[in-house]
Amino acid sequence: MKEFSKFFLIGNMKMNPMNQEEMVMYEKSLKEELQNVSLHQAKRLVEIALAPPFFYIKSLSQSVLGLVSIGSQDVSSYQKGSYTGDISASMVYSEGASFSLVGHSERRKYHKEENEDIARKVRNILDFGMRVVLCVGESREDHAMHKTDEVIKKQLQECLFGVKENEASHVYIVYEPVWAVGSDETPTSSEIHSVKKGIQGVLMELFQEKGKEMKILYGGSVHVHNLLETCITPGMDGALVGRSSLDPKEFFGIVSQAKVL
Ligand code: PGA
Repeated sequence: MKEFSKFFLIGNMKMNPMNQEEMVMYEKSLKEELQNVSLHQAKRLVEIALAPPFFYIKSLSQSVLGLVSIGSQDVSSYQKGSYTGDISASMVYSEGASFSLVGHSERRKYHKEENEDIARKVRNILDFGMRVVLCVGESREDHAMHKTDEVIKKQLQECLFGVKENEASHVYIVYEPVWAVGSDETPTSSEIHSVKKGIQGVLMELFQEKGKEMKILYGGSVHVHNLLETCITPGMDGALVGRSSLDPKEFFGIVSQAKVL
């Protein structure tokens, strides 16, 4: 972790909770957890963030105002117009989002998102003054063929095309191997550290000195028992957590770990 820089812990809630009733229970439990942790201490060291489905952004950002940063899981690659089903960066911003995930492997896989679509989303997020949380990572095949660095370099170059040096500090990168998402498998600490170094090298090529300061997180099967080896030991600046963020009790277990480490 960089000096004086908070650990950025993001819960990716994906398509949960399932309905309004479940959301009410989730919020209740979240508020209990927020009272439980010695939040002042945690907040000095950890930025706690959640990315709920669009539909819950407003209510969640109002109920945890000032305690948890709320973001979106995605935005449209278009700014406005006739795009049925799309939700724009402007909309999520006005609902209370302060960041947006982009390029998650599930979006790439199930919605066929390409790096150039992601680059347009990055632009839209930055134009609305939000932070970008860009996910990159290799497939299982690429991993087996030792192509991780090569694949990630291309993703970074293409997804960050057009981002200016003075915008770099608003962009966070998540190293999220596709094969580690939802699987209970993770790379070793030294693999994660080495990929982080590779990412840093590309960011410095793209943004010179500003690239050095950019935060690099890890995501993929992070839970309370492996936070140390997946994030802390490799020197990551934060974590993107899926399944273990769905139960506030479990998620705040990770918050407590991150604040003592
Ligand atoms: P997981 O998901 O923690 O359940 O593996 C991570 C993610 O999809 O961001």
